[in-house]
Amino acid sequence: MQPLRVGVCGLGTVAQGVLEVLARNADLIERRAGRRIVVTRVASRRARTEVDLRGATFSLDVADIPGHPDVDVVVELIGGDGLAVELISSALECGKPVVTANKAAIARHGDRLRETAQRQGVALNFEAAVAGGIPIIASLTQGLAANRIDWLAGIINGTSNFILTGMSDGGADFASALAEAQRLGYAEADPTFDVEGIDAAHKLAILCALAFDTGFRFDAVYTEGISRITPEDIEYARRLGYRIKHLGIARRTVAGVEARVHPTLVPDTHLVANVNGVMNAVLVHGDATGSTLFYGAGAGGLPTASAVVADLVEIARATRCAAPPPAYPAPLEAPAMLPIEAATSAHYLRIPSLDRPGVFARVATLLSERDISIESALQRAQAIHAESQNAWVPIVIVTQPVAERVIQEAVAAVQALPDVVGEVVRIRVEDLADA
Ligand SMILES: NC(=O)c1ccc[n+]([C@@H]2O[C@H](COP(=O)([O-])OP(=O)(O)OC[C@H]3O[C@@H](n4cnc5c(N)ncnc54)[C@H](OP(=O)(O)O)[C@@H]3O)[C@@H](O)[C@H]2O)c1
Repeated sequence: MQPLRVGVCGLGTVAQGVLEVLARNADLIERRAGRRIVVTRVASRRARTEVDLRGATFSLDVADIPGHPDVDVVVELIGGDGLAVELISSALECGKPVVTANKAAIARHGDRLRETAQRQGVALNFEAAVAGGIPIIASLTQGLAANRIDWLAGIINGTSNFILTGMSDGGADFASALAEAQRLGYAEADPTFDVEGIDAAHKLAILCALAFDTGFRFDAVYTEGISRITPEDIEYARRLGYRIKHLGIARRTVAGVEARVHPTLVPDTHLVANVNGVMNAVLVHGDATGSTLFYGAGAGGLPTASAVVADLVEIARATRCAAPPPAYPAPLEAPAMLPIEAATSAHYLRIPSLDRPGVFARVATLLSERDISIESALQRAQAIHAESQNAWVPIVIVTQPVAERVIQEAVAAVQALPDVVGEVVRIRVEDLADA
């Protein structure tokens, strides 16, 4: 059997991991794939003489890889949704299977790329694009293929989870927790994609396409990041029995599919609340399985390379016999993606108000006029001391589930009370329970 010849675009963290994993586990990968998998060519904009290319030929011209006669499969590890998408597209047009770890490219251009792959009858695999080393794509498309997925929820951005964990465990504020993440290499110099939720939204769009047949609809994912979370909110959440996690949540409803990424209070007894540091976790609720939780390293050279190489193994196996039908065909009729206004959640509200009698009652009245029930609240005496010194105290409330447009209107009404002296903070609450 001829080896499967791989051309790699990019020579960064993940590409180096792929070279390492393919070399270190060459024999067992060959046995599992049924043939040897060999990197024949690597291209990137900068030569890195310190990297052992394990016999591959290096070029400074990435555009050279897709059509190169020594390349059977293209692995795109450049990132972004510009040149990378052109490379993926051109490889597919050449009739070559593609493996990519690029969530931005798939979330934003997945429908078009999938259409090209299907037309050309070749694989487009992207296991590494969501949750790094966790095999969540294979689990959704194979292991859970018998289920109707009802909902899924995940910690799918390790940087945000590291920052929130630092704020929870060490009492740090957002800026210092972010600085620590940057010092340790867990956050980029420009952390916007991670801390504003864009990276997680890319991944959620991919999960939605696979779990709910929505197509790749990054544009329809509601996105909120963690940059406005304060140590006070983390502490009040803790006193109420919750931890704040940055979640991607998608749910099938009768009207369509909700997809949203935002900070979320999760009961502190839930497994997801205890996923800390840079670790990722995805909880999937299928109608036959109930809840299944996947946990592991969501990033890093070797964990991500594990997913890339698994995709290569699948391609090597498929090309030994007849190519299997795609695991994620385009839907005949995609369900509607719902706007955030259609979502229903419980909410945590922190209402900075003057320290005088009757304020809580006025807030409670505004909520009850809109049929919003209070699940729990913190008493004045439980307020964090530093705030009460300024003659104002926060009213902290957790509501029962309420429609988004109702809570929006209620918060606006509360905000307009003369007793309210600062911006009302609202964070969604999810119990992630089985039902
Ligand atoms: N790192 C992770 O843990 C992880 C996890 C999951 C998914 N991913 C995804 O995997 C992909 C690669 O990530 P990475 O962390 O390996 O990135 P990286 O370390 O920044 O590597 C990117 C590589 O591509 C090269 N490159 C970038 N732009 C180029 C261009 N215009 N022309 C030619 N070469 C170019 C870079 O060259 P220079 O060295 O000159 O910059 C570098 O060699 C991304 O899509 C990322 O989202 C990464």
